Amino acid sequence: MIILGIESSCDETAASIVNDKKEILAQTILSQQEHIEFGGVVPEIAARSHLEYIDGIISDTLKKANLTFDDLDAVAAAAGPGLIGGVVVGVMTAKAICLAKNIPFIAVNHLEGHALMPRLIDNIKYPYLLLLASGGHCQILEVSGPDNYKRLGTTIDDAAGEAFDKTAKMLNLGYPGGPKIEKLALNGDENRFTLPRPLKGKDGCNLSFSGLKTATRHIIESYAPDGKINNAQIPEQDLYDICASFQLAISDCFTNKLSLAIKEFKSNHPQGEHLVISGGVAANKYIREKLETLANKNGLKFAAPPIKLCTDNGTMIAWAGIERLQKGLTSPLDFKPKPRWPLDDTTPQARGAGVKA
Ligand code: KG4
Ligand code: ZN
Repeated sequence: MIILGIESSCDETAASIVNDKKEILAQTILSQQEHIEFGGVVPEIAARSHLEYIDGIISDTLKKANLTFDDLDAVAAAAGPGLIGGVVVGVMTAKAICLAKNIPFIAVNHLEGHALMPRLIDNIKYPYLLLLASGGHCQILEVSGPDNYKRLGTTIDDAAGEAFDKTAKMLNLGYPGGPKIEKLALNGDENRFTLPRPLKGKDGCNLSFSGLKTATRHIIESYAPDGKINNAQIPEQDLYDICASFQLAISDCFTNKLSLAIKEFKSNHPQGEHLVISGGVAANKYIREKLETLANKNGLKFAAPPIKLCTDNGTMIAWAGIERLQKGLTSPLDFKPKPRWPLDDTTPQARGAGVKA
């Protein structure tokens, strides 16, 4: 079984070809640079750029794999959630190939792509406990199979990646903020600044990051003679210390709530073996180490995708496509892309992707 996966829901135009032996036959990722000057992704610019490059990226990927459209068993595309202009480009392209070649189309929830990605690399059995932390989402989920999720917690305000990005913007570090903060934090003292751990000690597994971002803003403002954030003059070592303290606070928020989630997961699924992190924030080595320690302390194994496959890519969409096709879960050609698409919404409409082949 060979599947082409297409990702275009944010600022990466990506394609990948994966088979059911867990081999990545070829992959191509174009990270759009057009957004840098704006300090964040501009939806219309993203959509135009996907439109311009997607055909070339798909044909390059086929060439690299030494395959043609005739070798494909299905095409999977990220069909939401995300920036709708980009999602439409990927979905329409996938549908056109499927129609022309008479092969199944698979609408993949972008979050499912992140959620299942670690299974392509590691031998991870269902069910597992997942922290899905990206630029747009932050959720704790029990994953029991494609199309089978139970949400234990979610952020009630910002996503973790968004908190990294907004904090980096306040510090003038550029976008995306996560990798920049991680790098500077390496030279910092993480105990230098006291920052809040929102929702710590409260029942439930929900997360919150906006108070942390505001507290960091106040620290940055204290470096401006007029209290205005844009005029902050932060000495180099203090900048490192702010980054390290911020990163520790995020990581504590994760471990606090995951400790509760592990208890719930173990009681629901005593046979469960893994704690997994995925999504862009999973690329953070410091956070991976903290979560690995937590998993081991609680008798669980830890897994995360390879660093390069944590952020958006076509491979995760192709792999989710393989898992769905193996269960006969394909999508009609009139499937409507979904700008919002909760992973654990089990209504038939929300599961429009779940039509039996
Ligand atoms: O999964 P992703 O590529 O896109 C979404 O689906 O949102 O995640 C992007 C997010 C950005 O917010 C970025 O700052 C964050 O992942 N990120 C990181 C790191 N690398 C990317 N956050 C913390 N540490 C990193 N090393
Ligand atoms: Zn993503």
